[in-house]
Amino acid sequence: MENQKQKQPIYEGKAKQVYTTENPNELLVYYKDDATAFNGVKRGTIMNKGVLNNKISSFFFELLTRKGIPNHFVHRVSDREMRVKALKIIQVEVVVRNIAAGSLAKRIGWEEGRKLPTTVLEMYYKNDELNDPLINDYHIKAMGLASEDEITRMSEYALKINQILTGYLKEKNLELIDFKLEFGLHNGQVLLGDEISPDTCRFWDSVTKEKLDKDRFRRDLGNVEEAYYEILYRLTGEKA
Ligand code: C5P
Repeated sequence: MENQKQKQPIYEGKAKQVYTTENPNELLVYYKDDATAFNGVKRGTIMNKGVLNNKISSFFFELLTRKGIPNHFVHRVSDREMRVKALKIIQVEVVVRNIAAGSLAKRIGWEEGRKLPTTVLEMYYKNDELNDPLINDYHIKAMGLASEDEITRMSEYALKINQILTGYLKEKNLELIDFKLEFGLHNGQVLLGDEISPDTCRFWDSVTKEKLDKDRFRRDLGNVEEAYYEILYRLTGEKA
């Protein structure tokens, strides 16, 4: 572990722990194997998930950095740790959807897998007690969660990230069905934070439509670890 002396835990979430570092502007994120679904109602462990998600997220953050998306990633420290810029998290989860699945398929009564003719952008209030309700720009402004300008930034970045990732994943024979992003403020600037992994995205094999993401855990489809390994392998060629 890096900088043992300076390392104080400051936050523990469902899948990650966050520690201070010797630099007040930077934090250390530790990726756990714990898996939860349906707001913590279903719990389990996905063997090596922490290592896989740390590597997959690091890969995506490096790709997005090259493409000019401001984000919190500094560098990967170890198998389970990444160093990030400290953010004041905006309490909004931004979801981008290309294909109807999950909660959207249920809400609008579309079968899962039906292509959305235009990209759908959604905002959710990040609040476990309320079950992360769907909200819109007006709610966000009224609740003081983010300013008009910050909402515009988050929306623009989310759509640009969708373009970048969709194109990239297509070459790896993967369809990006939907994904969730979180943003935060660092020196007044909106930066992409959190993680980008099979925990936070739906990835389907382009040909077989096999699900290669956390839906395998949520829906008890089996081969959960194998799906996470497959994503890392397709992105980086790495087998573990
Ligand atoms: O469940 P739902 O269909 O709304 O999820 C949309 C996308 O957002 C999925 O890719 C899911 O993995 C992700 N998500 C997430 N964290 C949540 C809710 C959804 O990563 N709390």
